[in-house]
Amino acid sequence: MRSLQFYSYVVSYEEDLGISGIDFSSDFIKAVKKRFGHVESVCDFGSGNGFIGLSLLANGLCNHVTLLDKNPLAIKVCKDTVRRNQLGKNVSVCRSDVFKNVRKSEQWDIIIGNPPHHIGTNQQHLSDMKSYDPEWKVHQELYNTAGEHLKIGGSLLLIEDIRDSKPAQWKRLIEETNDLIFIKAFRPRIIRLPNTKRLDYLKMVSNKNNSSMIASGLEWILNPIAPYYIIWSKKQY
Ligand SMILES: C[S@@+](CC[C@H](N)C(=O)[O-])C[C@H]1O[C@@H](n2cnc3c(N)ncnc32)[C@H](O)[C@@H]1O
Repeated sequence: MRSLQFYSYVVSYEEDLGISGIDFSSDFIKAVKKRFGHVESVCDFGSGNGFIGLSLLANGLCNHVTLLDKNPLAIKVCKDTVRRNQLGKNVSVCRSDVFKNVRKSEQWDIIIGNPPHHIGTNQQHLSDMKSYDPEWKVHQELYNTAGEHLKIGGSLLLIEDIRDSKPAQWKRLIEETNDLIFIKAFRPRIIRLPNTKRLDYLKMVSNKNNSSMIASGLEWILNPIAPYYIIWSKKQY
C-alpha cells in the first residue's frame, strides 16, 4: 500500500484500484459547489481508493462521507486512510454490492460515483471490477435502488465515458425507476489539463518502471479532450 498527499489528507492507495478519481475529484468539486454548495452527507459509490469522496470532505462541501465499494481491497485501503487521518467521525467505510449492505434507513443528500464504464461479462467484472459492469447490471441496480438512499430532493451524479455509453441510455433507465427523475447530462470540462498530483504520480510510477500505468498516464496527458460526461438525476418525492 502506498500513500500520497491529497488536499489536507495523506491518502493510502493501491494502484490496482485505479487513480482516475484524482482527476475526477476536481469535476465533482466543481459540480457540487455550483449546484448544491455545502450538504450534510455524501456517498461515494464505487469509491476505490476514496479520492472523490475525500476531496468533497476536504473542500468543506459536506460534513460526512460514506466510501462504499464491493472490492475488499478498496475497503482495506479506505479504512487505512481513515485511521491515518483520524477521520472516524466524518468518514464511514462500507463494503457493499451496490446498496445491499446499507441500512434501509440510511439516506444521503448526494450520491456521487465513478462506476465501471465498460459493459462486460460476469467473468470480466469478477477479474476487473473497476472497469467492467456485467451487462450494465451494476448501473441498473444502482439506479433502481438509489432513490431509497437519497433524501427527498437528493441527487445522484455519475461520471461516464462517452466512448462506452450515451446519455440517452441512462435517461431511459432513470425514467423507468419509480422515484428518480432525469435532470441532465453535462460535460464537466472539455479540455483536461494534467494536474500536479497526476504529474507527481506519473513521476513515481516511472521510477517504478510500471509501463502500463505510464502508458495510461501519458495517454491522459497527451489527449487533451476529456471524453467524460456526468449524468444528474434527482429523487423527486
Ligand atoms: C472506475 S472505478 C472508480 C474508483 C474510484 N472511485 C476512482 O474514481 O478512482 C469503479 C469502482 O466501482 C466499484 N464497483 C464495481 N461494481 C460494484 C458494485 N456492484 N458495488 C459497489 N462497488 C462496485 C469497483 O470496485 C471500483 O472501485
